[in-house]
Amino acid sequence: MASELTYRGGGASPVAGAGPGAYSPKPSKPLAWLPRAARYAVAEHRPVFALAGMLFAAAVFSIASPSGSSSPATGAAVSSYTTNSHNPLARYSVEPAHRDVPARHFVGGKVPLGLKRKGLRVLVTGGAGFVGSHLVDRLLERGDSVIVVDNLFTGRKDNVVHHFGNPNFEMIRHDVVEPILLEVDQIYHLACPASPVHYKYNPIKTIISFFFFLMTNVVGTLNMLGLAKRINARFLITSTSEVYGDPLQHPQVETYWGNVNPIGVRSCYDEGKRTAETLTMDYHRGANLEVRIARIFNTYGPRMCIDDGRVVSNFVAQALRKEPLTVYGDGKQTRSFQYVSDLVEGLMRLMEGEHVGPFNLGNPGEFTMLELAKVVQDTIDPNAKIEFRENTQDDPHKRKPDITRAKELLGWEPKIPLREGLPLMVTDFRKRIFGDQDVAAATTGGQQG
Ligand SMILES: NC(=O)c1ccc[n+]([C@@H]2O[C@H](COP(=O)([O-])OP(=O)(O)OC[C@H]3O[C@@H](n4cnc5c(N)ncnc54)[C@H](O)[C@@H]3O)[C@@H](O)[C@H]2O)c1
Repeated sequence: MASELTYRGGGASPVAGAGPGAYSPKPSKPLAWLPRAARYAVAEHRPVFALAGMLFAAAVFSIASPSGSSSPATGAAVSSYTTNSHNPLARYSVEPAHRDVPARHFVGGKVPLGLKRKGLRVLVTGGAGFVGSHLVDRLLERGDSVIVVDNLFTGRKDNVVHHFGNPNFEMIRHDVVEPILLEVDQIYHLACPASPVHYKYNPIKTIISFFFFLMTNVVGTLNMLGLAKRINARFLITSTSEVYGDPLQHPQVETYWGNVNPIGVRSCYDEGKRTAETLTMDYHRGANLEVRIARIFNTYGPRMCIDDGRVVSNFVAQALRKEPLTVYGDGKQTRSFQYVSDLVEGLMRLMEGEHVGPFNLGNPGEFTMLELAKVVQDTIDPNAKIEFRENTQDDPHKRKPDITRAKELLGWEPKIPLREGLPLMVTDFRKRIFGDQDVAAATTGGQQG
């Protein structure tokens, strides 16, 4: 019996007039040359859905992306700054960062609406010191993971002890003169013994200090730059107003090259920092490293080393201990004093921003040493005496930052005046000098503030 092939289509037989058993070829499929899976996807209209999804995602990201982030588009914005002759800052030599910045860096800490900021991994060398520990507080507060590298030469564990046990915080006791390998996104390089007692006065110590300063500023900075290069991290160096030496220009603008004595007692600090800046710029130009340079002016606040020889800590500690305030020279030399939280804000803005710098970070309010002594007397002890001593070599006569550049490019300026910040520091010094129990007694002992 002939086999019966039954046509199951609802319409007429595909081959007109063909009887049962006649050969009926399958209808040819559209896109038969495509693989079976692709044919199925096309038949189900999946590419249309995929394309619509991609278009939607692209639209969302282009709306939500930060306007100031350092993407290639931002590079255009930066070059318009450098070529804009109407821009009063065009004369400055601020170098815009020329390498594309990874999307994780948000300018000024701003995060696009609706997107949660991803915490960064940040290394703070010198993070157990005065400035470093306040910076660490802020970084942890905004959700970053922080590693502190510090040899505790002038820093103290007490400055960061409140973070012990925080899973986002880690402290490594290490000298930056020795290489170290860590994985981070940003490096704030603060490690450096910064107080005058560590590089002046004692001639024997000076030799040791020379070694420390140069080693830390040169070898330490080289190590950290090398690390930044290796792991592709952004690098910020805390330089100093001391790079201007005893300035012949007042106030000091970043374009001023300074007046530094290369062979004086302060030179190991001043020249060390100048070299550190040079190395930083060489890595930027030669190795395309993302760098930032901050030139910090006198900063004060809680956690300063009590007997570090800096003028504010000296006066405050002396007034609290009922000792005379020692003024070097005639006391007419000027300085400007910024509160530490203002500095930390400036450092973070600089790190997150688009410009290499250098940037002056300081409070332009200018005080003579005698005016500062008066503020300390008013805050702590109106009866505190003043004692004059011979001035030290190369002590700058004037110091006052021009912060136009930081104002314009970082949107930063200090907010806390000396008379507001000083009492905050005094409270901390009282606690540390007299101990917690004795603070109340000391406070009621005829002193105001
Ligand atoms: N405070 C200011 O007024 C001021 C002014 C200008 C510049 N700066 C700069 O800011 C940075 C911080 O200054 P600070 O006032 O907090 O000083 P600080 O002495 O309190 O802090 C420096 C920290 O670096 C650490 N350190 C020093 N040498 C090290 C090394 N070889 N390896 C590892 N850690 C080391 C110290 O132990 C300390 O914790 C310094 O680079 C300083 O030059 C500060």
